[in-house]
Amino acid sequence: MVSDGYIHGGTDAREVARLEKQADFVSGFTFPLFDAATGQRVLDLACGVGAMAVRLERAFPGIELVGVDLSRQQLAACRANHAELAVARANGESLPFADATFDRVHCSWMLEHVPRPQAIVTEVCRVLKPGGSCQFVEVDNWSLSTRPHLPKVHELLALLNAAQVRAGGDPAIGPKLAPLFTAAGFSRFTLQPVQLVATPADPRFLTAFIEEWVEIFESLDESLGAQTASLIVTATSQLRALLQASDVELRYTPWVARGIR
Ligand SMILES: C[S@@+](CC[C@H](N)C(=O)[O-])C[C@H]1O[C@@H](n2cnc3c(N)ncnc32)[C@H](O)[C@@H]1O
Repeated sequence: MVSDGYIHGGTDAREVARLEKQADFVSGFTFPLFDAATGQRVLDLACGVGAMAVRLERAFPGIELVGVDLSRQQLAACRANHAELAVARANGESLPFADATFDRVHCSWMLEHVPRPQAIVTEVCRVLKPGGSCQFVEVDNWSLSTRPHLPKVHELLALLNAAQVRAGGDPAIGPKLAPLFTAAGFSRFTLQPVQLVATPADPRFLTAFIEEWVEIFESLDESLGAQTASLIVTATSQLRALLQASDVELRYTPWVARGIR
């Protein structure tokens, strides 16, 4: 466990590999909504093992990127795997940067884990230059649906969501972000659902979607305890079996919030 508020695995090889693969999946639908130009200062807040940060540097060449994270273990894995990244330990509630330091802030899958998301969003507004912008990618876990309906998957999803609430987070924070940005003082703000729909018509996306959720569920084995081990095996087998089925549709809706200071 990286912190009390983090319910996935630690930083073992399996979890690092999961985060790297997840970053390929996620950047496919979030980077087209992000923009950053050569020479601009970009903060990757809660950079974790650096998976999204390295992809940001590749997708937006010439940016001056800094990553920060609260977890020493995550940063150690980041430094081991991506020595080229400039990273530092910091709490998103109190960033060690002067007002108006950054042109852009990128942040993925963080606010779902924190007890005081307002403090984070307000701090991001402070470190952005006037006219600078931030992008947060966040969850709405109850939006996961499968056809055919898989009760074991939904049973496991409910356990994941309950564990996240117990840990002080919110597994459905995505659609609730608007008041946080308004209170933080952003001059403009957009909140957009990204409706992901996976069907056999796009086998690559269907495979990536199913693998993403299988690996999320498998990463819960430590935090949910031994009593859920067989449920994880059943639910992930049922999800994987959808790869061979024909009348299949999976949906999930993450949210992308963009604020301009
Ligand atoms: C699900 S991971 C996401 C990592 C990365 N953004 C990605 O998309 O792969 C959440 C990260 O938030 C970090 N985190 C949680 N609370 C934090 C805080 N208050 N300040 C900075 N980082 C925090 C955790 O250590 C963890 O690395």
